[in-house]
Amino acid sequence: MNLKLRVWRQTGPSSRGRMVTYDVSDISPDASFLEMLDVLNERLILEGDEPIAFDHDCREGICGMCGMMINGVAHGPSRATTTCQLHMRHFKDGETIDVEPWRAAAFPVVKDLVVDRGAFDGIIQAGGYISAPTGAAPDAHATPVPKADADAAFEAATCIGCGACVAACPNGSAMLFTAAKVGHLGLLPQGQPERDTRVVGMLQAHDDAGFGGCTNTGECTTVCPKGIPLTLIGRLNSDYRKAVTKRG
Ligand code: SF4
Ligand code: FES
Repeated sequence: MNLKLRVWRQTGPSSRGRMVTYDVSDISPDASFLEMLDVLNERLILEGDEPIAFDHDCREGICGMCGMMINGVAHGPSRATTTCQLHMRHFKDGETIDVEPWRAAAFPVVKDLVVDRGAFDGIIQAGGYISAPTGAAPDAHATPVPKADADAAFEAATCIGCGACVAACPNGSAMLFTAAKVGHLGLLPQGQPERDTRVVGMLQAHDDAGFGGCTNTGECTTVCPKGIPLTLIGRLNSDYRKAVTKRG
C-alpha cells in the first residue's frame, strides 16, 4: 500500500506543533498501524531526520499505551480496537491519513504523538485500591461473590487506561475511566470497606486534574477499545450520591 500521512509534530510541551506530510510506500496490508509508523521512522532516521515519537509497549491491546487520533477518531476506524491492533487493510491504498495526539486539557502533549496521562495516576492514587489483611491466602470459597457481580466487575476491570474516552469526549471528561475503576472494586465484597471514600476521592481527583464533566454524549464508550459501558457511569453517580448523603 502507498499512503500519505499528515502527522502532528511538536518538539516539546511548550513548542508550537504543526501537521507534517509524509509519503509512505510498500506497506503490507497486514502490517499494524504502529508497524507502518516504524517503517516511516526507520526511513526518517536513515535520512537524518527526527523520528516520530509515539507511545507503545505491549502491542497486544492490553497495556493502554498506544493511543492516537487517526482521521479524527481515537484509536482509528475499527471498533473495540487499540491502535496497535489496528491493521492497514482497514485503509484504502492511496489514502491520506491524519495522525494526531490525544487532544485534552488534562493530557498535555509531551512530544509529537506522546501525551502525559499522569492525571489518570492521580485518580487511581485517590482510591483505586482495597485494604486487605495480610497473612495466608484465604480459601477460594471463603468469600462468595454472585456470578452477575463477578462478571460485571471483570468487565469493568478490562479498562486499560488508554485515555481514548477522554480524547473523544467533547468535555474532555474521564468519567468512563473513573467509573470503570470505581466499579470494578465496588462491585466486589473486598471493595466495600473503602466504597464511599473511594468514589468521593476519585471524583475529586478527576475534577482537580482538569477533566470536564459528563453530559452523557456517549462518545467515550463508542471509541473504548474494551467496550466499557455507559451504565458504569450511572452506577458511579449513584454511588457518589449515596456516599455524600451518608456524610450529610
Ligand atoms: S474506559 Fe475504555 S477508553 Fe477509557 S481508559 Fe478505559 S479502556 Fe481506555
Ligand atoms: S501498545 Fe499496549 S495496548 Fe497498544
